[in-house]
Amino acid sequence: MKILGIETSCDETAAAIVEDGRYVLASVIASQAELHNRYGGVVPEVASRQHLEAMLPVIDATLAEASCRWQELDAIAVTSGPGLVGALLVGVNVAKALAYAKGLPLIAVNHLEAHLYANWIGEKRTDTTTPEFPLLGLVVSGGHTDMVLMAGHGQIKRLGRTRDDAAGEAFDKVARLLGLGFPGGPEIERVAAGVEHSSVRLPRAWLGGSDDVSFSGLKTAVLHLVRGEKGPPPPIEQTAAAFQEAVVDVLATKAARAAEREGARAILLSGGVAANGVLRRVLAERANVPLHVPPPILCTDNGVMVAACGFYRTRHAGWDLDVSPNLPVA
Ligand code: KG4
Ligand code: ZN
Repeated sequence: MKILGIETSCDETAAAIVEDGRYVLASVIASQAELHNRYGGVVPEVASRQHLEAMLPVIDATLAEASCRWQELDAIAVTSGPGLVGALLVGVNVAKALAYAKGLPLIAVNHLEAHLYANWIGEKRTDTTTPEFPLLGLVVSGGHTDMVLMAGHGQIKRLGRTRDDAAGEAFDKVARLLGLGFPGGPEIERVAAGVEHSSVRLPRAWLGGSDDVSFSGLKTAVLHLVRGEKGPPPPIEQTAAAFQEAVVDVLATKAARAAEREGARAILLSGGVAANGVLRRVLAERANVPLHVPPPILCTDNGVMVAACGFYRTRHAGWDLDVSPNLPVA
């Protein structure tokens, strides 16, 4: 079964064709990061407008890359939420129009669940192993930080979430405080790369035994450092490394602990922050079950994960779909 996946929830206009929820036939991503960089964050109106311009060329390029004709497709899956309302509207309306015109089933996909499904993508056709349930999922993106227990396809329970900033949002805000570019995650990882152990110590919010996380106190602690309220500001790379260490310490400790407590057979890491090499390494070290992490290109927003998730939702195809900007993971 070949599914066209469409993603426009934030600042990537993306489409992909995935076969049987596992094999990528084509994936095209038009990133708007450059465009938003000068504002230090995503400007919703600019994003919607850019999606409108990029959407059809991206879909055409995806079909061409897969050498696939419309008649060969079995369904269209599209992110319906959560995300920026204007951005989501572009993807959903294009998907509706195309599905209607081409006579294809239309499947609404939850963006956060889709991030988890990036872990079902096989590198080669001979690669048939898939993650085994129950699974502990950690979605760490620019807008969300959710810890979930996945008992099966479509059976997701949220265990914890951020009480304030999402992990990626914290990376973006701290990068801005340090005078680095947007998106901040890769910038912080880059400048911190040479620092083995930072001389700066930043606080961690453990929140008792809860699976929730909180990053706003950490962000404020960086602000005090940068303003020189505790003596001369440390070198940027030391602060960046200390911040990254603190975020990774909390996420890895809590995910490993929850996986053990819930009897998960593996951990799925996903979302833009899952591209972070330090998080991948530390979580793999602390977890006592296997860790699945998508390649970095499938951690940030893409159409592949939407098509893969859609494969397990074909029974829920239908026209009654609208955008859902605040859709929770479960
Ligand atoms: O999943 P995503 O592409 O979009 C959302 O759904 O939000 O995530 C984007 C977020 C941004 O906040 C970005 O700074 C963060 O992922 N990110 C990273 C890295 N690459 C992207 N954070 C830390 N380290 C990275 N290497
Ligand atoms: Zn995302």
